[in-house]
Amino acid sequence: MKILGIVGSKRKKGNTSCLVQAALKSAEKEGAETELIFLGDYSIADCKGCEGCKKTYKCVIKDDMQKIYPLLLEADGIIMGSPTYFYNITADVKAFIDRCYSFEVFAEDDRSCWVGIGEALGTKYAAVIAVCEQHDEKYMGFTAEAMAKPLVDLGYRVVDTVKTIKAFGMGDVLKDENSLKQSERAGERLAKTIKLRKEIEVKLKAKPICY
Ligand SMILES: Cc1cc2nc3c(=O)[nH]c(=O)nc-3n(C[C@H](O)[C@H](O)[C@H](O)COP(=O)(O)O)c2cc1C
Repeated sequence: MKILGIVGSKRKKGNTSCLVQAALKSAEKEGAETELIFLGDYSIADCKGCEGCKKTYKCVIKDDMQKIYPLLLEADGIIMGSPTYFYNITADVKAFIDRCYSFEVFAEDDRSCWVGIGEALGTKYAAVIAVCEQHDEKYMGFTAEAMAKPLVDLGYRVVDTVKTIKAFGMGDVLKDENSLKQSERAGERLAKTIKLRKEIEVKLKAKPICY
């Protein structure tokens, strides 16, 4: 079972990073093999909307996103975190999500029908973590939804959404037991869900449901 952590803040020791790492650690306790990436380490251009991915599901832009696509394909689950920047995800996270458009397939004659390639390959799982400084969740705006909604379309079932408020300084969340616990629980739930999925898959292959 592989889980990929994706940090959308450029602050490597920042709050998003701390919470994504807390989630990954608890996923490891459930037997997951984990990897952590910081989007800030990658040069990810904006999607050009060229539709060059339409037939191959491969993006034609040759940049660092090409290193991330294989990681996404091989991971059973992802933990995606972003701080709130003006009510929304960071520009790095937005660029990353838009470039996942190559993994979205639309019916040729009806664009209201689509599948994420995750669905075609077998549903994947995700947890999202959003962090903001204000004390009222309304100032977090769309941060969590801006990650969760596209992930659902791409074929991920989002098993947990963590919304952390009141975190401004780097690593403030380390003093916030509740936020840490929620992130740990998200990692645990993600790993347990994937484990269960794999168990049931084996069980059903050995003994299909027959009526
Ligand atoms: C450009 C920018 C915009 C921000 N916008 C908001 C906002 O709309 N609401 C909010 O509560 N916090 C906002 N913040 C604060 C960050 O979300 C907060 O400091 C967060 O903990 C940073 O996460 P990090 O440590 O992972 O980078 C903003 C910070 C920056 C730099």
